[in-house]
Order: sequence, then C-alpha cells, then structure tokens
Amino acid sequence: MENKINQIRAEFIQDLGNIRNNQDFEAIRVKYLGRKGFIQNLYTSLREVEAEDRPQVGKAINDVKAFIENKLEELRAGFTTTKSREKFDLTLPGRLASTGRKHPLTLVMDDVKKFFLRLGFTIADGPEVETDYYNFSALNFPQYHPARAMQDTLFISSEVLLRTHTSPVQIRTMLKQKPPVRIIAPGRVYRRDTPDASHSPFFHQVEGLFVDKGVSFGDLRAVIQEFAKYMFGQDIHVRFRPSFFPFTEPSMEYDFNCIFCRGKGCKVCKYSGWVEISGAGMVHPNVFRNVGYDPDIYTGYAFGMGVDRITMLKYNIDDIRLFFENDMRFLQQF
Ligand code: DAH
Repeated sequence: MENKINQIRAEFIQDLGNIRNNQDFEAIRVKYLGRKGFIQNLYTSLREVEAEDRPQVGKAINDVKAFIENKLEELRAGFTTTKSREKFDLTLPGRLASTGRKHPLTLVMDDVKKFFLRLGFTIADGPEVETDYYNFSALNFPQYHPARAMQDTLFISSEVLLRTHTSPVQIRTMLKQKPPVRIIAPGRVYRRDTPDASHSPFFHQVEGLFVDKGVSFGDLRAVIQEFAKYMFGQDIHVRFRPSFFPFTEPSMEYDFNCIFCRGKGCKVCKYSGWVEISGAGMVHPNVFRNVGYDPDIYTGYAFGMGVDRITMLKYNIDDIRLFFENDMRFLQQF
C-alpha cells in the first residue's frame, strides 16, 4: 500500500511537469482527485488494509492528497496571475457584473442634447464658479438689479459667485467665436433657496443661443414648440407669456401644459394647468455690444430650460429632492 502511494506521488510529480494548458490541468486534476481518481481508489482500498495499520495508511493517503491539492492550487494561482494568454482559464464561468444605470436627469439631458444636436447646435461649457462679470454685468444686469442681491446668489467673494444660471456661457462663447453661433450649454446652477418639493439650492439648466443674420422671434417659438413635442408628444401645449430679462428684448417665459393632470389642475401645477419651464427672448443689443457683435447686423434668440422640471414632468416625479438623495429604490426605477 505504501508503495502504491509513493508511486502515485511520483507519477503525479511527473504529470505536473507536463501540464501546458487548462485542458491538461483539468485532466490531471480528475485523474488524481476526481470521483474515480487515484486518491479515491486509495481510500477505497483502505478497507483491505489490516485494521491496526489503517490509521497510519489513512494518514499517508491524506498526506499525498493534500500534497496534490496544494500543488494544483499553486499552479492554478499561477495561471490566473500570469499575463500569458494561453494560461487564462477561459472555461471558468464569468461573474455577473451588476450594471449601473443613468440618473433620470442624465437621461433627460441626453434627450435634450440629441434634439438640439440634430438641429445643428453644438455643446458649449462654462465654469460653475463664475465671476460677477459673466453672470451679471455682461448680460446687461444693471448694478442695482435685485437678482444680484444676497437672497438669490451664493457669493464666494464680492466678485466671485456660484453661477445662478447657464446664461454666462452665452457670453463666454460669443467672446471666443464670431457669428453664426448655435450652441446649447447644459449644466448645474446654484441659488440660495431653501429646499422643498419644488426648490433645491442647485438644479440644472440648458441654455440655448442662436445668433446669425435674420434670426427671428418666430424661429424661437418654433424651436421651443418642436422641442416640447419631441419631449412629450404631439398633443403637448406650449404657452408663451411676456416677461422681462435684462439680456433679452423682447423677453418671455414659457410653460408646458401639465402632463400629470393634462391641464385640469393638480398639486404639481399648483392648480393652474401649466408648468413653467423657463425664459427666452431675443438677445439684447447691449449684450451683443458687450461681446463685440454688431447689433445692426446680427440678431439672435436665447432660451433657458429647467431640466429638473422637465424631468419631473416626464417621469411623474413630484419632489425635486428625490433627484439628489441617491436613494437606490428611486434611482433603480429608471
Ligand atoms: N437665465 C434665466 C434664468 O435662469 C433663463 C433665461 C431667460 C435664459 C431668458 C435665457 C433667456 O437665455 O433668453 O432664469
């Protein structure tokens, strides 16, 4: 019996040296450790050993088994760490990767970008930490305008602030580029608001700007209407209301009819049937002058878009805070 055990050990050492790939490895493993392998056979023939010798022989079998297992394990570890391609064990079952998913705001941002890219817009970018100049002055905000006041703007110093809208990207783009300009600028903006179901101290906008010869208010209305249909289907209604922004003249605000109640009135639309999306208008001549464009030659339209609002409408979400809490039970629904 002892002889047999030693023989098996010797044969194994020889076999081990001949393993070249996973197939060899598996064949050798089965030959020794398989259900009908050498080691199992040894255990089976243990029955024929004299009772008094059994513990000793049993131990010898255990030893050779452990020896074989260790050697094979060492080799397997070598396989999986080595860079050599043929030594990867491609037969091992893969691990299930748990995939992430896009945040609902990202899904809607992607959709908005897709729509405008198709119309020939490109994507522009600007910093979230802005200066008063780009956020206000260059956009024709008078020095005393209430939007500059502390209750709206998060100032870092008297000159530096967190941008309150994406409109400063208009200025940055026009300073870098001659007309025609056709950009959208998606991004995060900040305001000193107390969080509630419809307010958050940061939220998301997409700014749009189109400057060329002969751009009209009609073009602006059409693009917003088409966008609304693209986002919400053919029966969406868009409402335009006259408004004021320092950087556009004329200015308007625009609303979509409430998708939740189909215009009948509900909590989301505060029983008005409409949800305000943002503002828009024709670029003010002073803004053109500030960036060195001639307002007698060029006209342009600009618009903002509240991405959080659009996402809430699109996915029936009645609390903006859900976007920022990162609750997996919420995020997994998209
Ligand atoms: N920046 C404005 C806001 O955050 C929205 C806006 C209004 C953007 C009119 C525009 C515009 O481009 O033309 O309230």
